[in-house]
Amino acid sequence: MSQTSADPLFQPLELGALRLPNRVLMSPMTRSRARQPGDIPTELNARYYAQRASAGLIFSEATQVSPQGKGYAFTPGIHSDEQEAGWRGVTEAVHANGGRIVMQLWHVGRMSHEEFHNGEPPVGPSAINANAQIFLGGERGFAPTSTPRALALGELPGIVEQFRQGAERAKRAGFDGVEIHGANSYLLHQFLSDGANQRTDAYGGSVSNRIRLTVEVAEAVASVWGPDRVGLRIGPGLGAMGGVTESDPLPVYTALTDELNRMGLAYLDVIEYFGAPDKRPTEPGDLHRQIRERFRGAYLANGAFTAETARQAVKSGHTDAAIFGALFLANPDLPERFRRGAPLNPPQRESFFGGDAKGYIDYPTLSWAET
Ligand SMILES: Cc1cc2nc3c(=O)[nH]c(=O)nc-3n(C[C@H](O)[C@H](O)[C@H](O)COP(=O)(O)O)c2cc1C
Repeated sequence: MSQTSADPLFQPLELGALRLPNRVLMSPMTRSRARQPGDIPTELNARYYAQRASAGLIFSEATQVSPQGKGYAFTPGIHSDEQEAGWRGVTEAVHANGGRIVMQLWHVGRMSHEEFHNGEPPVGPSAINANAQIFLGGERGFAPTSTPRALALGELPGIVEQFRQGAERAKRAGFDGVEIHGANSYLLHQFLSDGANQRTDAYGGSVSNRIRLTVEVAEAVASVWGPDRVGLRIGPGLGAMGGVTESDPLPVYTALTDELNRMGLAYLDVIEYFGAPDKRPTEPGDLHRQIRERFRGAYLANGAFTAETARQAVKSGHTDAAIFGALFLANPDLPERFRRGAPLNPPQRESFFGGDAKGYIDYPTLSWAET
């Protein structure tokens, strides 16, 4: 059994206005189980999150701020009264179990299919196809992304407004804060990229132009919540799967970090790595180190951590906490397992996206026999 008192993962953490009891955090994870029609969170979703309330903090699955922001079947939204009520059930269940949960606000941009938009193309910074695959649901399976139309300059305030309204609804639904999704090849990442973004107006070209939309969204969301309950997820240089290339991420993300410092944003959630845990670099790269040093809020690293590599990353000061994806999905009591050095349930990939209770709320916790 590890010494909880000395374990870096079990020290409390001040995260803006939030006080986290530990540093084992649950990553945002799409599970594609919202009620249809209407993309509404359900009682089943509430049980899933409530089971994981021992996380220092839960980040909700990506949640579309508008119908235009949708790109996958069965994902939840935060733009209708019914969705807001559904999410209230989730936040109440998490709070009843002593947890904290922030909502991840999402606009997929061009990572979508015209089927979700009444046959109209999805939107993006430029009319460039992501060349990715989109899950349409059920027997229709996967289809190639539709070529987007470029958002007109006059539409961009409306995008900012979608995020602001989502933030307002998230507040009414009882969340503890919100995270803006600026990673994984979605709309804000598309604008940050010099590949996906070929605009020649004030939102494309130079670094300051490419970060503009993300900065405006962060300001709008912070105006609803106060900056001390707002964070941003980034994945510098990790957009290749959605065709979002970044030829020189460092100046983009350092400029963005400076803007977030000016606003006083609570945290940065940084996807540092995708892949197998044993291939995770043991030392942070220059890009991540520089962002970490520059940012004045909390730095939260994610990507293929194990208990040991997470402990090491927190202990060395590289990150303030570790965010766990697949392991948290499969182990509702992940912090307790780490505390005890207990074995972990393996994640079942076939039930990651879509389906019912199976592979969702039936992962076992440690039994009394193991205590
Ligand atoms: C099933 C699944 C769904 C995911 N959905 C999201 C999502 O909605 N938003 C997001 O930012 N990242 C999402 N991710 C990425 C995770 O948050 C995380 O960055 C990734 O899994 C790496 O962490 P890990 O190695 O600890 O799993 C998802 C990952 C998985 C496995």
